[in-house]
Amino acid sequence: MSNIKISPSILSADFSKLGSEIQNLEKAKADLIHIDVMDGHFVPNITIGPEVISKLRKYTSLPFDVHLMISPVDNFIKNFAEAGADIITIHPEATDNLENSIKKIKSFKKKVGVSLNPETSVEKVLPVLKLIDLVLVMSVNPGFGGQKFMKETLEKVKILRKEIDSQKYNTEIEIDGGINFENSKKAIEAGVNILVSGTTIFKENNGDLKKNIQLLKTG
Ligand code: DX5
Ligand code: ZN
Repeated sequence: MSNIKISPSILSADFSKLGSEIQNLEKAKADLIHIDVMDGHFVPNITIGPEVISKLRKYTSLPFDVHLMISPVDNFIKNFAEAGADIITIHPEATDNLENSIKKIKSFKKKVGVSLNPETSVEKVLPVLKLIDLVLVMSVNPGFGGQKFMKETLEKVKILRKEIDSQKYNTEIEIDGGINFENSKKAIEAGVNILVSGTTIFKENNGDLKKNIQLLKTG
C-alpha cells in the first residue's frame, strides 16, 4: 500500500461553498486538507483567516494542514491553533526567531512545518529539522494556484530525504505548487511523501476528485 498522502489545496475550491467542498474531498479519500492563508503582505494575495477555518472544522475530521503565508507570523499562531489547525506551517522569512516560533506552535500541541520558498536554501531548515514534523518545499513562488512547477526544487527534496533518513527522523516532506500527474512521480522518487495539489485535483478529469487523488497517489 502506498504511503503517499494527498493534501488537496482548497485554494482551487469554490470559496462560496467551502464546507461541502471539504466534505467532498473527504469522500474522495484525501488524507489532509491544505489551507493556504495569505495576508497580501508576505505574498501578493489575500485568502482566509482563523474565523473561516474554525467554521470549517465541523465539516471534516481530516487533519487541517494550515500553510501560513503571513508575516509577522507569531502574532497569529494562537488564533490558528485555536481555530482547529492540526499542522501549522510557517516560512522562516516570516519570523525574527524561527526556533521561538516553532516552540510557540508546539506549546499548543500542534504539529510544526517549515516551508522553503524556491529561492530559500535548504540550510535554513537543517538546524531545526529535529524539532519539526514536516518540511514544505515550495515548487512555485507562493501566492497563487495554477503556476508552473519548478523542477529544480526537487534537489532540495533529495537533500532533505537523505538527511532525514540518515538521522532517522520522522519528519515528513511535503511539496506544494504546480503538481500534476507527471511531476508527482518525480517528486515521490525524490523523497516527497505528501503532495499538495489544487488545480490538478479540482480541474483535471472534469473535477473528478476521487480519480485525481488516486492518480496522484499511485502515479
Ligand atoms: C501557493 C499555494 C499552493 C497552491 C497550490 O501559494 O501554497 O498550496 O494552492 O496550487 P496548485 O496545485 O494549483 O499549484
Ligand atoms: Zn500551500
